[in-house]
Amino acid sequence: MDKTGSFKIKGVLKSLRVRFFVIVFLTGLISCLVMHSVILDSYENRAVNVKSTEAQTQLRILANHLIVSNYLQDTSSEVINAELDMLANLYDGRVIVINDDLKVVKDTYNISQGKTIISEEVVNCLKTGSKGTVSKYDQANGYIEIVTPIIESEVIEEEDVSVSGKVSEVVRGVLLTSVSTETIAVTLDILSRRAQILEILIILIILLFAAWVSIMLLRPFDRITTAINDVKAGYTDEPIVGPNYLETEQIINAFNALLRRMKVLDDSRQEFVSNVSHELKTPITSMKVLADSLLAQEDVPNEVYREFMTDIGAEIDREDKIINDLLALVKMDKKAAGLTITSVDVVNLTEVVLKRMRPIARKHNIELTLESKRAITAEIDEVKISLVIMNLVENAIKYNKDEGWVRVELDADHQYFYVKVIDSGYGIPEDSLEQIYERFYRVDKSRSREIGGTGLGLAIARNAVLMHRGTIDVKSVVDEGTTFTVKLPLRNG
Ligand SMILES: Nc1ncnc2c1ncn2[C@@H]1O[C@H](COP(=O)(O)OP(=O)(O)O)[C@@H](O)[C@H]1O
Ligand SMILES: [Mg+2]
Repeated sequence: MDKTGSFKIKGVLKSLRVRFFVIVFLTGLISCLVMHSVILDSYENRAVNVKSTEAQTQLRILANHLIVSNYLQDTSSEVINAELDMLANLYDGRVIVINDDLKVVKDTYNISQGKTIISEEVVNCLKTGSKGTVSKYDQANGYIEIVTPIIESEVIEEEDVSVSGKVSEVVRGVLLTSVSTETIAVTLDILSRRAQILEILIILIILLFAAWVSIMLLRPFDRITTAINDVKAGYTDEPIVGPNYLETEQIINAFNALLRRMKVLDDSRQEFVSNVSHELKTPITSMKVLADSLLAQEDVPNEVYREFMTDIGAEIDREDKIINDLLALVKMDKKAAGLTITSVDVVNLTEVVLKRMRPIARKHNIELTLESKRAITAEIDEVKISLVIMNLVENAIKYNKDEGWVRVELDADHQYFYVKVIDSGYGIPEDSLEQIYERFYRVDKSRSREIGGTGLGLAIARNAVLMHRGTIDVKSVVDEGTTFTVKLPLRNG
């Protein structure tokens, strides 16, 4: 599993690297191509527009000349003919003059003279009397077609006063011109070729850059992978140290934190196992010693025999208690899912627990009282919470002076209820307060053993409280007494 695991991570890194490379490369390539086509397109549009506007201006001037020299009726004017030829030459194109009968009066190519033109634009221009020029760019054939109306302005002389004196404009004919865009195409061609060379260069640079980025950016992950694999394989459980790349610092930190936590868990598991074996062994060793010493003596008096057997019975009880506590603890470790929540009268529950503890309290002449400020109903696991109260009260009685007292106080607000167990006992030294919840921890081993403790009671209590999302706190003064406060939410689940 280790081998395939590490292989997989390496594989993932490799495919990540390839993906990274492809993404960077494609992004570069696409933006390059888009830029190319956008720039060339906008150059072409602009060039065509400029050319077309320029030609239109000249054509309008020419159209005026045609009217002034009455060219539509008489095409013999040398000046106008020269002007027409010059314009045609200038734009490397063709100029056709058409009169209002759609007849061609002049063609600079000298091909269509006398023919009738029925091009849609021309007909439109004449029929609607449209005064504006129309231009159309034919990219495939490389020319701009411009239709310019030849307009005559005359002053209206009529009897109708509202119309008389005004200038009317009449379309007398049309100039149909095609302007070659070859120069634009040539420029475009040169530009495009230069852009291509540039693009190849840029693509090469992007290629190198993408490769560099994908290698450099993922290099830190290689180191982590190697380090993680080493830990996984069990060579080491040392934290990863390495050059602190910004990208991986957090991963390394998280991994090291995980490693620390694992170590703590592992240590506590080992300690637990060794504690359990030790605790379980102690009563057995005692029993073995008792039994052996009985066997070693001949003719044992009946009283001695009874005494030893009583001791053996006590050790068996102790073993039984440890096993029961261990089972309770193990069950408790199975997370909050294991709670059986019901609505419980907490005051009543506490009373029941105290009733069970009274005989032990009486044995030590300890006064056991309950003070509850109000009725409390909470959604809790009844069995586990009574285990909590029982363990706290049991401790308060056990670690108390004779003639001492134990007071249990109950209270609640709108969110939580509180169980306080206050005693007049030995107290717990300050440096032990942190550890009393640890499994098998006892402040005074010999005394606790004498009293019959397993060191599991508070561990069980704390687990049960945590399962309910509650807290447990302790305050203690040596030789004066101890107060345990449990705070539990009224509603669970
Ligand atoms: N009310 C208390 N007063 C004094 N010491 C206490 C009290 N409660 C717990 N302790 C100390 O904490 C240790 C752990 O308690 P616990 O987990 O219940 O184990 P035990 O089985 O020994 O009672 C006890 O051994 C005892 O030293
Ligand atoms: Mg206890």
